[in-house]
Amino acid sequence: MDIQYIARLPKKNEFWKLFAETGWNMNYKLSKNELEQSLKSSWYAVSAYEKDKLVGFGRVISDGVNHAFIVDMIISQSHQGNGIGRMILNMLLDRCKEFNLRDIQLFAAKDKYGFYEKFGFEKRPEDAPGMQYK
Ligand SMILES: CC(C)(COP(=O)(O)OP(=O)(O)OC[C@H]1O[C@@H](n2cnc3c(N)ncnc32)[C@H](O)[C@@H]1OP(=O)(O)O)[C@@H](O)C(=O)NCCC(=O)NCCS
Repeated sequence: MDIQYIARLPKKNEFWKLFAETGWNMNYKLSKNELEQSLKSSWYAVSAYEKDKLVGFGRVISDGVNHAFIVDMIISQSHQGNGIGRMILNMLLDRCKEFNLRDIQLFAAKDKYGFYEKFGFEKRPEDAPGMQYK
């Protein structure tokens, strides 16, 4: 696969299509404009293209010094299993390391732990779990 990795945000419609593949918007119920607005607040983002088609994405939300949160790691279903996620995550991590960010976190779905473990992520300890406001 000939994939180009670009450190910039995708166009609104491109990302809307890729994001729709995940089914996450059933929960978030974001409009296209809200989704675009959320991307604009990213600290760093990587878009992967095959020719003109957006096939992968990942981004970091950060204060630029201490905390970083990796979100929206999405590879198009037709392109999963080809090393695109690896490349994007490595680019996100390299950027965090370049800025010496101390704390890099993410939420992983149950069937995705194995992917992130390959990059050095560990589950938080039982006595210090992540929490989410409901
Ligand atoms: C999870 C995801 C980002 C992985 O991207 P990908 O491009 O398919 O993964 P890669 O091909 O780069 O895989 C890199 C390595 O991780 C492994 N891997 C990929 N998905 C995995 C999974 N779900 N569990 C365990 N290992 C996984 C691959 O086998 C490969 O291992 P290897 O280098 O030893 O051969 C992608 O499947 C995806 O976008 N899923 C849908 C959206 C989603 O759920 N995002 C994550 C939210 S937590």
